[in-house]
Amino acid sequence: MSNLMRAALLREFGPASNLTIEKIPVPLPATGQLLIKVRAAGINPVDYKTRTGKGLPARELELPAILGWDIAGEVVSLGEGVSRFNRNERVFGMSNFPHAGNAYAEYAIVREDEFALIPAAVSDEVAAATPLAALTAWEALFDQGELGAGQKILIHAAAGGVGHIAVQLAKWKGAYVVGTASQQNHALLHELGVDQALDYRTQDFTTAVNDIDVVLDGIGGDNTLRSIDVLKPGGVVICLPSMYKDDPAILAKAAAKNVRVKWMVVSPSGERMGQVAALLASGDLKIKVDQTFPLEDVAKAHEAVETGHVSGKVVLVI
Ligand SMILES: NC(=O)c1ccc[n+]([C@@H]2O[C@H](COP(=O)([O-])OP(=O)(O)OC[C@H]3O[C@@H](n4cnc5c(N)ncnc54)[C@H](OP(=O)(O)O)[C@@H]3O)[C@@H](O)[C@H]2O)c1
Repeated sequence: MSNLMRAALLREFGPASNLTIEKIPVPLPATGQLLIKVRAAGINPVDYKTRTGKGLPARELELPAILGWDIAGEVVSLGEGVSRFNRNERVFGMSNFPHAGNAYAEYAIVREDEFALIPAAVSDEVAAATPLAALTAWEALFDQGELGAGQKILIHAAAGGVGHIAVQLAKWKGAYVVGTASQQNHALLHELGVDQALDYRTQDFTTAVNDIDVVLDGIGGDNTLRSIDVLKPGGVVICLPSMYKDDPAILAKAAAKNVRVKWMVVSPSGERMGQVAALLASGDLKIKVDQTFPLEDVAKAHEAVETGHVSGKVVLVI
């Protein structure tokens, strides 16, 4: 193994063209860490937000930096004290979020407690597409939203990275699921199992549904304000985009209607990745990889996610 690796480096916040492929030293694992040969890296909206200097992770990011949190790869070497993994095993996880990520490179250092084994039948691309979106959907629905069997959930952006997983997790739990997407994604929503699909371009969800227990809102702003109108008393909106956190107009409307609006920041967890892996292995959870790009085309991959209309996930194949 050469002691140099290819990595996509960001030297200055800005456009996707600021991501450049360079050769840098392969890092060494410390106590509790794994050195992974990265096979694929998932791309999320937070990646391009960070690239432009916006969003939570950018606040503490030191440049030059390697971006990306979703990693699937093979264990190459183990730091001291690592007990859960062996060399050559395939593992996946969301690494170090919301602190500096390190996915867009041939090798990456990760913490063993943030990773889990990839089921044998799951490809590297699917594994890389999974962690951040699946951990977010799980935490939003079950920890924050406390969604239970028989409850009604409205999932906005249901064809997106988080949404298409949230639909499947909600159905797995036994909830009634309404999902929003443009018409071209309705076949996908029905395949995923929604009970009702709404076209947000032509239908007003506030008149189409009511008595909702949980709203998963991947859009934010005015969409959050309008989501409050469809909740039953005591219901909750889980809002994903952090830029609207604690917006006074949203909080005031929620209080007046006796409902809650919560913002969250997804946490890494190897244990939860193990639960997600079990659902992938059983076929209860299927991940849609919309587009793949080689590491060299990382700028194109960012631009694809930046359109805001990905159907499923975008993945870098390293
Ligand atoms: N706080 C956290 O911890 C956390 C974690 C994960 C994600 N997030 C944030 O949550 C948001 C969603 O993430 P994601 O990965 O799911 O994004 P994504 O994959 O980029 O979402 C794309 C989807 O959004 C749909 N969409 C766009 N505008 C819409 C609208 N007005 N109504 C309904 N659907 C619409 C598109 O469907 P059509 O093509 O059919 O329009 C597309 O399928 C992002 O802002 C992300 O940064 C936050």
